[in-house]
Amino acid sequence: MIPKVNVDSPRRDSFTSNIGVIAAAAGSAIGLGNIWRFPYVLGENGGGAFLFIYLAFVLGIGIPVMLSEFTIGRRAQRNPVGSFKKLAPKRPWFLIGVMGVIAAFMILSFYAAVAGWTLEYIYQSVTNSFAGKTPDQLGEMFEDFRMGSWRPVIWFLVFMLFTAAIVISGVQKGIEKYSKILMPILLIILIILGIRAVTLPGAGAGLSFLFKPDFSKITAGTILEALGQAFFSLSIGMGTLITYGSYIQSRDNLANTAISVSLADTFIAVLAGIAIFPAVFAFGIDPAAEEGLVFITLPNIFQQMAGGYFFSLLFFILLAVAALTSTISVLEVVVAYFSEELNLSRKKATIIAALSISLLGILASASWGWFDKVTISGRNFFGLLNFTSANILLPVGGFFIVIFVGWFLGKNQVRDEISNKGTLKARILGVFMFLVRFIAPIAIALVFLNGIGIIKF
Ligand code: PFF
Repeated sequence: MIPKVNVDSPRRDSFTSNIGVIAAAAGSAIGLGNIWRFPYVLGENGGGAFLFIYLAFVLGIGIPVMLSEFTIGRRAQRNPVGSFKKLAPKRPWFLIGVMGVIAAFMILSFYAAVAGWTLEYIYQSVTNSFAGKTPDQLGEMFEDFRMGSWRPVIWFLVFMLFTAAIVISGVQKGIEKYSKILMPILLIILIILGIRAVTLPGAGAGLSFLFKPDFSKITAGTILEALGQAFFSLSIGMGTLITYGSYIQSRDNLANTAISVSLADTFIAVLAGIAIFPAVFAFGIDPAAEEGLVFITLPNIFQQMAGGYFFSLLFFILLAVAALTSTISVLEVVVAYFSEELNLSRKKATIIAALSISLLGILASASWGWFDKVTISGRNFFGLLNFTSANILLPVGGFFIVIFVGWFLGKNQVRDEISNKGTLKARILGVFMFLVRFIAPIAIALVFLNGIGIIKF
């Protein structure tokens, strides 16, 4: 029998199982944000106290925003722009989706640049190039690489190619399939590295840096960094999880999925901290080492420790794998938007999206090379994309997303969606509505305005 196809809504590609959804959404959330960005941002912002604030933001703001995105996406069955157009026709809410697509361009261009660095470092690990180098020489090696004209750009393009190759294969045969393979590999590698790090002599200082809060280090800027980091790490605020939500089947439990994904992401960030800081302190290195932290200090550590060749190779493969399941989710936002709103085939949409993002990304990856003249308030082009997307676009997007769900969509539609049309008990509904109506928007607004200096506490 030929299956009936509804001509009004051609069947959309979707995830096949709840495990697939969790692998894909956790794959998006868990990435360079956890293993590369979290440790250096935490190091620059004083350690344990930052972790404490970060955790509070994940629970009070991150989970509600994530569940809001899943709710919007599954209800509308569209990309972020189309979702708002469908749920709020003829209203300006779709601009949140537009901002999300812009954020996707910005994030993917600097993020895939760093992902490209991980490929260079896999290559350097294979050829054993860290061996016998002093910390200064390793710093120079990283700087020379980043300042080079071609290498960072070429590795960036290679990474974009991998990303596009997966996205072009679709939601099931691309995103879900690769997430299910890559995520368990990531977890195993990280656990091996964590065990190695905590068993190093002198590891205790790193653990206490990570877990002992020193609140005297906290400023308005630090708190905004923690919020931006939470949004960035959970992949929320720009519609990535609206897009993935639109591929979640009607029988899956959205609330449980949002909670599992957020907790898994947070667990991995802490685990990355446990794998990195004991090693940083065991070898007496400054933890506030900016973007170079994992690319300079870790090779230094690896080349001094037994089995370093093996561990360094493993670590950079881990970074590349973690990055890939995230870059595909960012590209998918743009591809879903291009294909649904501009009526393009997935293939065409992927090619156009990947090429246009690459133009911006080439500049980002040349930010220390031939494009280093462009700086705004002390940040180069890469730093500008990194800061603006995480600390401005994502919190602003998240603010409007929770307002939309709390005040526009309203309790009945939200109940209908998170209870799967009444078949599940939506026990958390009351708490969720309270968080999205009051706590999350007020907290985001205060932290944001305080962080950028508009109000002062
Ligand atoms: N959450 C990813 C990470 O932590 O590496 C980065 C990211 C992916 C940010 C997708 C935003 C996004 F939409």
